[in-house]
Amino acid sequence: MSSTIKPATKFIHAGAAPDPSTGAIMTPIYQTSTYVQEAPGKNKGYEYARSQNPTRKALEDALAVIENGKYGLAFSSGVAATDAVIKLLQPGDEVIAGNDMYGGTYRLFTKIFEKFGIKFHYVNMQEVQHIKAAITPHTRLIWTETPTNPLMNITDIAAVAALAKTNNILLCVDNTFASPYLQNPLDLGADIVMHSSTKYLGGHSDTIQGALVMNDTDLRDKLYFIQKSCGAVPGPMDCFLVLRGIKTLHVRMKEHCANGIVIAQWLRKHPKIGKVYWPGFEDHPGYAIAKKQMRGFGGMISFELKDDSIEAAIRVLSSTKLFSLAESLGGVESLINHPASMTHASIPKAERVKNGLSDSLIRLSVGIEDAEDLIADLGQAIG
Ligand SMILES: Cc1ncc(COP(=O)(O)O)c(C=O)c1O
Repeated sequence: MSSTIKPATKFIHAGAAPDPSTGAIMTPIYQTSTYVQEAPGKNKGYEYARSQNPTRKALEDALAVIENGKYGLAFSSGVAATDAVIKLLQPGDEVIAGNDMYGGTYRLFTKIFEKFGIKFHYVNMQEVQHIKAAITPHTRLIWTETPTNPLMNITDIAAVAALAKTNNILLCVDNTFASPYLQNPLDLGADIVMHSSTKYLGGHSDTIQGALVMNDTDLRDKLYFIQKSCGAVPGPMDCFLVLRGIKTLHVRMKEHCANGIVIAQWLRKHPKIGKVYWPGFEDHPGYAIAKKQMRGFGGMISFELKDDSIEAAIRVLSSTKLFSLAESLGGVESLINHPASMTHASIPKAERVKNGLSDSLIRLSVGIEDAEDLIADLGQAIG
């Protein structure tokens, strides 16, 4: 697909080609585990569905297109995609990761990979200097999330990419919160983009899935080898759902962004609300970088109440009617979440609090309902 193609066209047509056997405009769900071969080694390019599946192939092509990359790989979850990236490493290798990121990523690094001899350094990635200071001769990978989950901190992708290149280190960016509609890390010099496709790519809270996109053929071959050897592949129905989700990503993201602006500003003016975390505020420390590397500020917002007690937070979390209390984000419907006890419970309290994630922090995934209804719901819950 031409690189000058406009976003709406790109999202609708990414990876989509009529099915060669029938002309079906929607990619069929190839619900099969294996493929009949004419003779040993003589086949149509498909041997066994852990290694190849046409529905997954269409999705992987689409993922590459929407992230301006050459290759896409789909995984059975976002965490499985992260797991594949870390499996590129050897015992003794070191990773520099953000000190504010999705709790499940932190859990995977500390509870699974540390025991295999991989060392992780957690730094505040709002300043490139902190990353630079953590580089050692063993550093192989920089892992960053921007905006971060849940504190909405911003990392300067281009600056970190330049630092990574100079030191021959891979840079992987978790682009889940921004989605490819708002930000394309490969264009800014990252080596790998990771997504929890469960979120904005799927967009309808109906599948768990992950993605990696890259440009380098050798890197793709290594990650494909890990994908098929470790087997964390999504089923064809799930691939179909994400393919369908991608077709409306631009329409949904415009609405998420529009509602995000209205709700962030409303929260900030509310007398009972303390700090609001949203990168679209001009006084947000990452505003200038977010403006430079993103095309909008998205629908993720976190906030604290002035009554900074866990009891007050629980009252709000239990009182919303339209905002459903649930883990996850990025669906058309609004969700409310308590990171300390839900999405980030796997991070020890001392570590969480040190990095600014308080017990009373509330995270919103602002959906695409009417903003006035969402505000009325938050208003009655906050009281
Ligand atoms: C920023 C981020 N990265 C990765 C993940 C993990 O994705 P999954 O739940 O699809 O495994 C999540 C899940 O919430 C997330 O928010």
